[in-house]
Amino acid sequence: MISHNAAATQAIAASLALRLHGGEVIALIGDLGAGKTTFVQGLAAALGVTSRVKSPTFSIMNEYAIEPTKAQLWSQNNKPAKLARLIHADLYRLQNDAELSALSLADEQRADTVLIIEWPNAVSVDLNPDITVTIDHLGEDERAITIVAK
Ligand SMILES: Nc1ncnc2c1ncn2[C@@H]1O[C@H](COP(=O)(O)OP(=O)(O)OP(=O)(O)O)[C@@H](O)[C@H]1O
Ligand SMILES: [Mg+2]
Repeated sequence: MISHNAAATQAIAASLALRLHGGEVIALIGDLGAGKTTFVQGLAAALGVTSRVKSPTFSIMNEYAIEPTKAQLWSQNNKPAKLARLIHADLYRLQNDAELSALSLADEQRADTVLIIEWPNAVSVDLNPDITVTIDHLGEDERAITIVAK
């Protein structure tokens, strides 16, 4: 899909949110400033995260509660409203695999959790994503967004 502004990227992310059940690992690939965090903001809002999603550049990993009452999207689709958490990680600043192990990402991977990871290729470990989102910076505000599910 082609996006011409941040709001359009967030709307595309919201359309992906509709299809999530919980338990998914999403890899988010794109250059600095491509719009990865912007994408996560759209995904989070559509999932029912009410707090502001900030870049985990320095915190590495941020956790957000998904409010069941705000979970209109998947209850409308007759999915069980079991999604309780969104975890947003940014591996850009990790120096080595020991730092990755310290994060215990695998432990955070649960059936009630969507895990979305910026810069998954900053580590040599294969994070085995279920879905890969690639954002290509085409111009000032123009982005190509490709979503591939395994
Ligand atoms: N079509 C678009 N989609 C997404 N963001 C856009 C678009 N057009 C302009 N922008 C702007 O580009 C910037 C993207 O910043 P963002 O922090 O989301 O990038 P990022 O890929 O997470 O970068 P980093 O690798 O540094 O974490 C924002 O300022 C956003 O408003
Ligand atoms: Mg970012």
